[in-house]
Amino acid sequence: QNNLPDTFTDADTGIVFNSWGLSPEDPRTQGGFRFGVALPEDALSNDATEFIGYLECASKDSQGWCGVSLGGPMTNSLLVTAWPHEDNVYTSLRFATGYVMPDVYGGDAEITQISSSVNSTHFRLIFRCKNCLRWEQNGMPGGAATSSGFLLLGWVQAFPSPGNPTCPDEITLEQHNNGMGIWGAVLDGNAASASYAQWAALATHNPE
Ligand code: HEM
Repeated sequence: QNNLPDTFTDADTGIVFNSWGLSPEDPRTQGGFRFGVALPEDALSNDATEFIGYLECASKDSQGWCGVSLGGPMTNSLLVTAWPHEDNVYTSLRFATGYVMPDVYGGDAEITQISSSVNSTHFRLIFRCKNCLRWEQNGMPGGAATSSGFLLLGWVQAFPSPGNPTCPDEITLEQHNNGMGIWGAVLDGNAASASYAQWAALATHNPE
């Protein structure tokens, strides 16, 4: 995973992301992986509580799931889990205190989608993650400080699809089997934008 960000602009929405990824040739995961963030204008001086996320994950015959830990390790961090089902990408916010199936996150974080796409080998999601950079589960607080100019993030990918895929609170997962890791994600000035509020307003829906 690169530490210094690759900046790109999503062609459909104009959203500018700092991103970090693994190429399809990388031996650590089959199919490649990419995660990106766009942040509020002052996020590099005042800690943001939310971000717009970009996920591009690998699947096999449209089966699989991927995840990002917003604190780095799987444990004691807010976990974003995403998977394709038919033409939609579903998400679930989770939290784990051990290396077992994570619980449903009980805090007030919320994902709303901006756009998604699914094909046989990859799925992609652009989403607003509100109240996702400060978390608390069962009295255990944590968070990520965007003003540090750096995020510690974790990634995982897996090929079997979740069970109960259309009920995010009810999914069942097997332990991930297509790579995992922790990386230091450096933020640069392109991550924060005066257009953030306008872009966040594009987050209008979730799959039924
Ligand atoms: C690492 C189990 C779901 C994110 C690990 C490890 C285990 C594990 C045993 C450590 C493996 C090693 O070090 O060799 C499980 C099981 C799950 C599950 C049994 C569900 C049934 C998830 C989910 C996410 C996630 C849903 C995120 C959305 C991570 C990350 C790591 C990791 C980022 C690498 C960083 C670390 O070692 O803490 N998992 N996991 N896991 N897991 Fe999970």
